[in-house]
Amino acid sequence: MRKRIILLGAPGAGKGTQAKLLAANNNGLAHLSTGDILRDEVTRDTELGRKAKGYMNRGDLVPDELIIDMIEGRLDEDGGFILDGFPRTVTQAEALEKITAIDVVINIALTRDEVIRRLSSRRVCRDCGKIYNLLYNSPKNEGVCDACGGNLFQREDDRRDVIENRYDVYIDVTAPLINFYKERGLVKDVDGSQATEKVSDQILVALRG
Ligand code: AP5
Repeated sequence: MRKRIILLGAPGAGKGTQAKLLAANNNGLAHLSTGDILRDEVTRDTELGRKAKGYMNRGDLVPDELIIDMIEGRLDEDGGFILDGFPRTVTQAEALEKITAIDVVINIALTRDEVIRRLSSRRVCRDCGKIYNLLYNSPKNEGVCDACGGNLFQREDDRRDVIENRYDVYIDVTAPLINFYKERGLVKDVDGSQATEKVSDQILVALRG
């Protein structure tokens, strides 16, 4: 199986959901989410967190130099990794090429309307990070994580106006990466509108192919 993996896709396309499943089912494959790392920096009120917070709350991208510094040293090529939310710009993709080779880029496609629907109803566990959706996979008890009993919360950037900006930023700045990686023969397209298990199956086929 190919082990140096990028998950590409609009906000809410299902990158986090699929990365967590893949990492759980493949021992040693590290899940690296730049969004999760940044949210942790914000919670701990670090210097990076203070710099990043305003951009994130507006749904804008954090400047490339902060992200590239943050990612360097975190990639374990031997164990393999799933990059979720990175790279997000051509500058980041070019920087990544200097750090490591990539085996495959999974492009999870989803329409704007479905992005807005899904993100407006997302909830995340504060303790274990498990992702829920009030429309598609709600927890058994409202506000409580099925897996660990932790509290569920709504992300600051999952407000309608911020979601719309995040989607626009994705189209303008991140979607060009699809061609960037197509030119390198690395892209496998996956239909993100299917049920979670179907998306996972398609990703597994792409990773074996
Ligand atoms: P980040 O956390 O990376 O947010 P994102 O890319 O906008 O992605 P999301 O986490 O919103 O969505 P997802 O694709 O992971 O979907 P999920 O699986 O949760 O980034 C946040 C911010 O940090 C950025 O805006 C930026 O400011 C900054 N940042 C991060 N990385 C950066 C970088 N490299 N450069 C610069 N700035 C950066 O699913 C969404 C919902 O849908 C959930 O409720 C889930 O349960 C549900 N769902 C998933 N799959 C399905 C399915 N198949 N069917 C039904 N529902 C589903």
